[in-house]
Amino acid sequence: MVIFGGSGDLTRRKLVPALYNLSRKRMIPGGFTILGISRSPMKDEEYRSRLREWVDKAEEAAPSDPETWEPFSQGIYYLPANFHDAAMYARLKEVLAAYDTRRGTGGNRIFYLATAPSDYVDIIRNLGSAGMAREDSGWVRAIIEKPFGRDLASARALNREVSAVFREDQVYRIDHYLGKETVQNLLVFRFANGIFEPIWNRQYVDHVQITAAENIGVGTRGAYYEEAGALRDMIQNHMMQLLTLVAMEPPPDFAPNSVRDEKAKVLRSIRPCTPEEVGQVAVRGQYGRGFVGGREMPAYREEQGVSPNSTTETFAAIRFTIDNWRWAGVPFYVRTGKNLAKRATEIAILFRRTPHLIFRQAPTDHVESNVLALRIQPDEGITLKFEAKLPGQSMNIRPVSMDFRYGSTFGPHLSSAYERLLLDCMVGDPTLFDRIDSVELAWSLVQPFLDRWSSTDGGPIPTYASGSWGPAEADALLARENRRWRRL
Ligand SMILES: NC(=O)c1ccc[n+]([C@@H]2O[C@H](COP(=O)([O-])OP(=O)(O)OC[C@H]3O[C@@H](n4cnc5c(N)ncnc54)[C@H](OP(=O)(O)O)[C@@H]3O)[C@@H](O)[C@H]2O)c1
Repeated sequence: MVIFGGSGDLTRRKLVPALYNLSRKRMIPGGFTILGISRSPMKDEEYRSRLREWVDKAEEAAPSDPETWEPFSQGIYYLPANFHDAAMYARLKEVLAAYDTRRGTGGNRIFYLATAPSDYVDIIRNLGSAGMAREDSGWVRAIIEKPFGRDLASARALNREVSAVFREDQVYRIDHYLGKETVQNLLVFRFANGIFEPIWNRQYVDHVQITAAENIGVGTRGAYYEEAGALRDMIQNHMMQLLTLVAMEPPPDFAPNSVRDEKAKVLRSIRPCTPEEVGQVAVRGQYGRGFVGGREMPAYREEQGVSPNSTTETFAAIRFTIDNWRWAGVPFYVRTGKNLAKRATEIAILFRRTPHLIFRQAPTDHVESNVLALRIQPDEGITLKFEAKLPGQSMNIRPVSMDFRYGSTFGPHLSSAYERLLLDCMVGDPTLFDRIDSVELAWSLVQPFLDRWSSTDGGPIPTYASGSWGPAEADALLARENRRWRRL
């Protein structure tokens, strides 16, 4: 596995701990070899001890133990080089060929692009020119990190570059949300149980709410976030993934393209929004000062690396409409934001109210609709909310919950999303990776919002107090349709 960006943050926090865990669990073979590439000058030994420090400090890995570390570290190498130096790729080719003989890597290669997106094209072109995408003796795959483009045009341009060098089945576009256990459990929940699927449609579902709330601000990543914003950072990728998994039809089997075909079909069924309609179906916001968990937070415009006049959205809420037989008339409300009251990611299915209530003392509008909430993080689990009678003489009705918690049922998680996805790539299973058509479809759906919000006639950006649930306009978006956001 060649990691372009071997000294970078993603490699430190996610890739190396995941690879070490896979090695500890004996999920990767003894000859597995890592080659880190970046400009910082370092010898192999220095790189190995740096990686060991990263493992020891990682949240998602147990501290290194000599029995696993020693054999694992013998397969770690480092090449100080510049990605833009075309001559480097000839050297890289020789180095990898030497590992084939020395470590038995058999011509198999994963090229992991853990670099700034602006470096992707150069690396891909150079790999192509050096003939390194060809599968002469083993398999060759490329993992490409998000963001995959920054709008529809750039995503298409990047796809063209990638397709000029790699076949689509060699390309693994990673979205770590899909590696989360609870996200995969959504498919099991839907398609391994007989009782939910029959009511998973417009006849029983009133609407769906998907929330990804963070209770932190941009911190030291202000400069990065200025270029991204909530639409690019969360909605185009993670939240569209969650939406497609909730809305997709049952695939014929769990084969990679069966699942990915169904997901793409959902994206194709979402009604595109025109720039003029943006104001009716979407709300953006930016955090102002406030308190989160008792701590005073600066406004977004006061964060390091952020322009004092920034109009970057740190909150977005959108109502999506899916035009197909299953979902016609069922809105999908999606919201995400930074510095909100709580950290919580969940998908909630809100069912239609009972058509007629026979309990006279409890009028229908006092009875809430049933809710099935799938909690992705933290406190992963599933809750079904329904009405029950309060004990006593009178007929008082109150919502109660049936609760399934991952932690208490199965114990702590044993593997991170990156572990799962790296292993899937190694065994050649792209089910949980993004396909070219879905990436472009998702961009085409968010493009009108990007266009509108970046234009001067998008109007001033609403602000919300840090520690709140977003701007008042987001509440109004649902209130117009007699609905409200769930209190999480
Ligand atoms: N960090 C995360 O948690 C995270 C999460 C999700 C996705 N991602 C994505 O992952 C990618 C990498 O992010 P990151 O946060 O790891 O970035 P980063 O910390 O800035 O790492 C960039 C790496 O590239 C190397 N590099 C830069 N220019 C180079 C050049 N011309 N030649 C050779 N090496 C060069 C840097 O090392 P030298 O300076 O030593 O050359 C460094 O190792 C991005 O696409 C990001 O969006 C990151």
